[in-house]
Amino acid sequence: MAFKRTVIILLMALIGLLALLRLAGNIVFADPGITPASAPQAHRFDPKLVARGRELAAVGNCAACHTAPGGAALAGGLALHTPFGVIYSDNITPDPKDGIGSWSEAAFDRAMREGIGPDGEHLYPAFPYDYFARMKQGDLDALYAYLMTRTPVAQKKPPNHLDFPFNLRFLLTGWNLLFLSPSAIHADPNRSPAWNRGRYLVESLAHCGACHSPRNWLQGTDASEGLSGGVAEGWTAPALNHQSPAPILWTEDELETYLRTGIEAHHGAAAGPMRAVTNSLNAAAPDDIHAIAVYIASLMPAAPPAHSPYAPTAKMATAAAIVHGVCANCHGLNAPIADNRWPPLEASTALQERSARNTIQILMNGLPLPNIRSEPFMPGFSQILTDAQIAEVASYLRAHVAHRRPWREVKEMVHRIRAETPAAP
Ligand code: HEC
Ligand code: HEC
Ligand code: HEC
Repeated sequence: MAFKRTVIILLMALIGLLALLRLAGNIVFADPGITPASAPQAHRFDPKLVARGRELAAVGNCAACHTAPGGAALAGGLALHTPFGVIYSDNITPDPKDGIGSWSEAAFDRAMREGIGPDGEHLYPAFPYDYFARMKQGDLDALYAYLMTRTPVAQKKPPNHLDFPFNLRFLLTGWNLLFLSPSAIHADPNRSPAWNRGRYLVESLAHCGACHSPRNWLQGTDASEGLSGGVAEGWTAPALNHQSPAPILWTEDELETYLRTGIEAHHGAAAGPMRAVTNSLNAAAPDDIHAIAVYIASLMPAAPPAHSPYAPTAKMATAAAIVHGVCANCHGLNAPIADNRWPPLEASTALQERSARNTIQILMNGLPLPNIRSEPFMPGFSQILTDAQIAEVASYLRAHVAHRRPWREVKEMVHRIRAETPAAP
């Protein structure tokens, strides 16, 4: 709380100061623009550098945020919902007018490291430049080469819809002062090269903490909290450090499989926002995924959390009928569809979390339709079950499968998630 108050006071002071300076006609709000360069010729780039850039773009998940549903790759226009309004991602194809085709590499580097556009305007941190700021120059060079050799797409970005005062880009000067501290990541000589590579990727390009770390009300991440859990698009992003709620300890190999394929037989499937991450990581360099797995495994607790077993008293007959009649077709022992390839529900982290959020999200929305047949699929039940039934099934799983104390206000959470979910078009 003290931290929050300090931030508020600091911010108010900054806003005041900036407003005064602006009145004085000062132009400190905008850094001087970088003169656009003519679009670099594609053949100027070494194909090896372009290939490396492709793998790095997969680690940075650029396409997931910079591609609108059904739209051209990297042409932008995806709506990102923030507590302050809607921000649309930019077109980062090399189109000279609508994209970044006229950007020099210096302009690109400044956007990635400082969150400043070519004309000196501040970019919103919905674009995770606070993580990208720690990237090595060689990796930025490769990303630039990759982006500049894509097919240009002429497509303008829709205007952002942000509440006042957040629509004033110059206020981000204050945000950057508070939260942009791009200290270089120094190698730890006592750790393996893979561990060091993994930490570097996690804390920079892969921006895992953008979802897996807590954020304050100004959406800044507090680095001291580490990967102790956060929120993303209405889902909980579980802790990946010693606070991990996973009922079974994650090993390096299991993490590597999960990150590459989105499912791991002893844990579960990436169902929510994590699915876009694992889909993208699938195209990353195997060494880089391995390095990330090595680093994350080193943060995990020595043993899974211990809980005194909970013996449920309530029978929950409706939920039992649904679970044994509907869910067991896939989740039951020897279920024909599951083919015993999918993890048992007992292994699910979602059932262990402090909040029922992810369990309800999975129940309501299922797993996204697979791209290939071997991928897991689960239908969403939001249109089939009532809110009361969804709440009872979630509580049933918590009590009878995870053997944990009941969640509170489960029905309220179902209502909340239904209200958050945009109606199907
Ligand atoms: C979490 C979503 C997200 C991810 C991941 C992401 N971006 Fe963005 N990016 C955005 C948003 C949103 C904006 C627009 C910000 C604004 O309007 O101020 C943006 C803006 C940019 C810009 C500025 C473009 C301009 O015209 O001003 C560049 C360059 C960029 N991103 C490159 C990348 C690259 C390269 C990657 C992958 C390494 C990446 N982004 C990953 C969300 C994302
Ligand atoms: C068509 C098959 C199918 C049906 C029917 C189905 N599921 Fe699933 N479900 C899956 C698959 C596949 C997964 C992903 C693999 C896994 O985690 O077991 C999954 C995942 C889950 C998870 C998340 C596990 C994790 O990864 O953390 C929960 C919770 C869940 N299902 C509950 C239910 C409930 C409750 C029902 C019934 C209302 C149900 N499922 C019906 C196939 C199905
Ligand atoms: C866009 C937000 C986002 C980003 C970025 C992200 N994650 Fe996740 N992650 C989630 C969410 C949300 C879940 C849980 C629900 C789900 O399946 O989507 C999750 C689940 C996980 C899990 C499963 C944990 C468990 O115990 O079940 C692992 C492991 C994981 N993420 C690792 C990573 C790593 C490593 C990175 C960086 C390379 C990363 N995540 C980046 C949002 C994100």
